[in-house]
Amino acid sequence: MKALRPLVMSGKEVLPVVEGGKGISVSNGESSGAWASAGGVGTFSGVNADAYDENGQLIPQLYHGRTRRERHEELIAHSIRGGIYQARVAHETAGGEGRIHMNVLWEMAAAEQILHGVLEGSKGLIHGITCGAGMPYRVAEIAVKHGVYYYPIVSSARAFRALWLRAYNKFRDFLGGVVYEDPWLAGGHNGLSNSEDPLKPEDPYPRVKALREMMNSFGLHDTPILMAGGVWWLSEWEHWLDNPEIGPIGFQFGTRPLLTRESPISDAWKQRLLTLKPGDVYLNHFSPTGFYSSAVSNPFLEELKGRAERQVAYSVEPVGDLTAEFQVGPRGRPVYLTEHDRERAQGWVAAGHTNALKTPDTTLIFVDQATSDVIRKDQVDCMGCLSACNFSNWAQNEEGTTGRKADPRSFCIQKTLQNISHSEDVEHQLMFAGHNAYRFGQDPWYQNGFVPTVKQLVERIATGY
Ligand SMILES: Cc1cc2nc3c(=O)[nH]c(=O)nc-3n(C[C@H](O)[C@H](O)[C@H](O)COP(=O)(O)O)c2cc1C
Ligand code: SF4
Repeated sequence: MKALRPLVMSGKEVLPVVEGGKGISVSNGESSGAWASAGGVGTFSGVNADAYDENGQLIPQLYHGRTRRERHEELIAHSIRGGIYQARVAHETAGGEGRIHMNVLWEMAAAEQILHGVLEGSKGLIHGITCGAGMPYRVAEIAVKHGVYYYPIVSSARAFRALWLRAYNKFRDFLGGVVYEDPWLAGGHNGLSNSEDPLKPEDPYPRVKALREMMNSFGLHDTPILMAGGVWWLSEWEHWLDNPEIGPIGFQFGTRPLLTRESPISDAWKQRLLTLKPGDVYLNHFSPTGFYSSAVSNPFLEELKGRAERQVAYSVEPVGDLTAEFQVGPRGRPVYLTEHDRERAQGWVAAGHTNALKTPDTTLIFVDQATSDVIRKDQVDCMGCLSACNFSNWAQNEEGTTGRKADPRSFCIQKTLQNISHSEDVEHQLMFAGHNAYRFGQDPWYQNGFVPTVKQLVERIATGY
């Protein structure tokens, strides 16, 4: 394979390989610091990051507030403390090599306040911010204020154009690079737009070429693009190297670094990765953020698929063909379904899915009592971690609500991502992964359960494999 050309990123020449940010607590100070120490760019997740006390004990993120808004304030304090903690660990682990970036989701609650708080409390330790999910117009201004570089994560040239024209052109010197995250391949949340079909993946090459053309038209010829999503062996991307259509290029990995010694995920999660088969990662639309996301099809996702399937349209008055009366709730209030749907609903009830829950789209879904109880409890326990949440209807606005009915087809992503990163449970939690994760099971390097160090992985990637 052609030799990888180093890139100048966040003010330093580095290997053009990046560990992408992974929340919650999946890329942390230790993993990102190790990545930087190997000469690349490590990204720790600044989304509700963990902090430890002076005895090395995890400081539990407990919430005492009685209202969602009070708990939301506590969450901001936890997040700032955790971000500063992980920045310190990353800095110490990197030993002055590579670069350290922090990732935040623009759609997480109080993203701006948390960014200011962490950057203020970790001066000189963080060199760049990566930010995706939504349109992070204001991230440039925040980065510049703290003297760090910013890296928007986009899934199309069009999205970058909007960001550039509205905000980034005023802060061009601190634009460190643009992450192109392939919406059909990458793990975690995916930026599919309304015009893109989740079932029709597109080749990333022409999309990145279009992004480069757009960037060149703004005079950003030297600004690197970081290709994220589905990258495994760089030998498969050789035609992207030294290619004027693509320009300066680096590669961001999210899934491969999950299986390293420094990766903080559980052994159960690491072992599960080795058993995945093609097709096991499912692009779904259940996230309470409203974005698509890619995760392993496990009982957690199967249950959500089941909820979506056990779904019928209803009306509170008989109208059109919704005339078949059906009683819901403890008081047996009548709603009206089609005759066919009433039969289906009766079948679900007979099979134990006795509780009919209303959705914001005037549909009912059918779940068993235990699931219904968990949905209600999670909605009540909400601590306002997103700027707007479809599941609990929390929103970070004056009213504290999206104004829509809470949606029981979704779930509390805060709870499940905390659970998977702090336990051995990989079956009943959301397990984000990229669509190439099955390659762990096929790549001879991982045979016999070999788990590399980050240094070994970075060196291996640089060889093309
Ligand atoms: C477990 C997991 C969690 C992730 N969490 C985030 C996140 O919080 N923020 C983000 O911008 N990207 C997140 N990503 C995306 C990665 O940073 C990276 O861009 C992506 O995984 C690259 O594609 P790959 O999975 O094919 O390697 C996550 C990916 C995984 C696998
Ligand atoms: S219900 Fe939604 S906003 Fe509330 S904590 Fe869970 S994911 Fe966050």
